[in-house]
Amino acid sequence: MIATPIPTHIAIIMDGNGRWAKARGLPRYAGHHAGAEAVSRTVEACCELGVRVLTLYAFSWENWNRSPEEVGDLMGLLDVFLRRELPKLRRHQVRLQAIGRLKELPAAQRATLQEIIAQTASFDRMTLILAISYGGRQEIIDAVRRLAQRVQAGSLQPQEIDEERFSQQLDTAPWPDPDLLIRTSGEQRLSNFLLWQSSYTELYVTATLWPDFSKQDLVAAITDYARRERRFGRTQGGFCEVPSAHTPVLPSSDEAEADSSQDGVGTIR
Ligand code: IPE
Ligand code: IPE
Ligand code: MG
Repeated sequence: MIATPIPTHIAIIMDGNGRWAKARGLPRYAGHHAGAEAVSRTVEACCELGVRVLTLYAFSWENWNRSPEEVGDLMGLLDVFLRRELPKLRRHQVRLQAIGRLKELPAAQRATLQEIIAQTASFDRMTLILAISYGGRQEIIDAVRRLAQRVQAGSLQPQEIDEERFSQQLDTAPWPDPDLLIRTSGEQRLSNFLLWQSSYTELYVTATLWPDFSKQDLVAAITDYARRERRFGRTQGGFCEVPSAHTPVLPSSDEAEADSSQDGVGTIR
């Protein structure tokens, strides 16, 4: 067992379902089904480790451009997954939230999502945010439009728009920015995920394909994160202390020893 600062907010680009299926000679939807199991495992693991906010990139704005069959499979899976996960969310006291242009979802999926969000609204051990029909650029455009409308209506002066006010217009307004962003399957890009929010997020790419992602992979990512120094543009050590994070105990990872002397990460704002 090792003690290490746990990121308050972890965001994951869950990539590689298709390649996982292809490697087994299976259709793509088999990869997505296996990916849903990895979601379930990861939610549980994050809960156990003391992560407070977990954002999962489930379906991007651009993913609407996939074949109608694949989009249909993914939407069907979303429905089944949400219903199946409800008992686990209850058991672990996990609150479900969603970000993205949810109005674009089929009515049935939107209704299920709303239902599970309502049924988990009082839980506060961890917040699970599903990014669905989500694009960082689209989120920014939507925020700009809302601010422009307020300026047009005369209730906001252009010079009053600052980072704080802008952030408040984003879907993610209630939560702190991610501390750690994990991408599976080896791709080194953001693919339109949390563009504004990840300005100072630590990035971690693993070759593991999403359906194979395990608690050990998660611990390896957190262990790597714990060794980094987040400087936020300051010089080493900085002149102002960032409050220290809660430091729950992690199971040891084969990957590396954590430097448990570090602190200064992951405090809910
Ligand atoms: C991620 O896996 C799941 C979604 C984007 C919905 P992919 O379907 O992108 O898998 P690869 O990248 O083709 O392997
Ligand atoms: C990003 O994966 C979107 C999700 C994981 C939901 P993609 O597979 O769509 O990204 P690209 O196309 O490889 O950049
Ligand atoms: Mg992909």
